[in-house]
Amino acid sequence: MSDPVLEMRDFRLVFDTYRGTVQALEGVDLTIYPGECVGIVGETGCGKSATARAMLGFVDKPGRVTGGSIKINGRDILKLRSREMRRLRGREIAFIFQEAKKALNPTVTVGTQLLEAVQAHQRVPRKEALERVHEALRQVGLADPDRLMDSYAFELSGGMAQRVMIAIAIVGNANVLVADEPTSALDVSIQAQVLAVLRQAREVTGSALFLITHDLGVAAENCDRIAVMYAGRVVENGTVEDVFSAPSHPYTARLLAALPSAERETLEAIPGTVPDLVDPPPGCRFANRCEKATQLCVEQRPPMSAIAGRRQQVACHHPLVSTKPARQETMSDG
Ligand SMILES: Nc1ncnc2c1ncn2[C@@H]1O[C@H](COP(=O)(O)OP(=O)(O)OP(=O)(O)O)[C@@H](O)[C@H]1O
Ligand SMILES: [Mg+2]
Repeated sequence: MSDPVLEMRDFRLVFDTYRGTVQALEGVDLTIYPGECVGIVGETGCGKSATARAMLGFVDKPGRVTGGSIKINGRDILKLRSREMRRLRGREIAFIFQEAKKALNPTVTVGTQLLEAVQAHQRVPRKEALERVHEALRQVGLADPDRLMDSYAFELSGGMAQRVMIAIAIVGNANVLVADEPTSALDVSIQAQVLAVLRQAREVTGSALFLITHDLGVAAENCDRIAVMYAGRVVENGTVEDVFSAPSHPYTARLLAALPSAERETLEAIPGTVPDLVDPPPGCRFANRCEKATQLCVEQRPPMSAIAGRRQQVACHHPLVSTKPARQETMSDG
């Protein structure tokens, strides 16, 4: 198998607040291979956005990295100077924001921003840059590129702005894209269109995608693998098929049970609350909400273990599917 395009290992991030230090991410492991789509799911506040932003090197105060590594195409970005990191953005990794209209620069035209995205990294004659921009706009299904390039963000609908954002992301030929809830600010009718555009664009460019979503249905439809986060840790990961057919972490099972379905109209909310991350419990962070929790869970952090015969791993002392003690294969995260 080829090398991963992005590999996050034992990543740790805290936020220094007046209440104390929030242990927001505690030992996050994530890997993505060329062309793959990996979904990152979990309830609000579990650390999805903090993880995504860190991959782009966006760690601003009060955030502080306290350990681990994030390798993009083999280079640890945590060791790069900010100038080097800026060069990497757009060229090797690009971000698709939730609210595209706000993320676009309101003071210059869409065309200027697209051309900048091309020329920030390569010395390309203007004519060629223009051709690439037109090509990217076609790929995201935006007709009449000339008129569009003369417009400003405020003139675009939410769906168009998100398409422009995707065009900006793909025009630099980055081999990994990170999209943080790219459709949750859009009307339901537009969401599916934008996800389809993203899929089609990736088919052409071959870029890998981390798709962050609180919507498990979106993850199931778009991703090859998913990582389930809870309170700053990845608690389960595996192929969408394996995780959805047999969730092995009690938290994943509860998340899936909370999905609306044809048979079930009411959502089954997960009882209890996420622990305070200023003073997190030493063991499993889900223990206080888990029916299967024992003293061991309260006291000891469960290690990631592989599940026999499946491309799936779980960090749980009492998984719903039996694990094997051996170290996991290299295929997935862990
Ligand atoms: N600037 C900040 N200052 C203090 N704490 C922060 C800050 N940003 C994030 N956090 C904390 O870090 C944790 C992770 O937040 P994050 O925004 O990554 O969650 P999320 O999974 O993206 O949630 P959502 O689904 O609501 O977008 C939370 O406990 C949050 O309160
Ligand atoms: Mg978020």
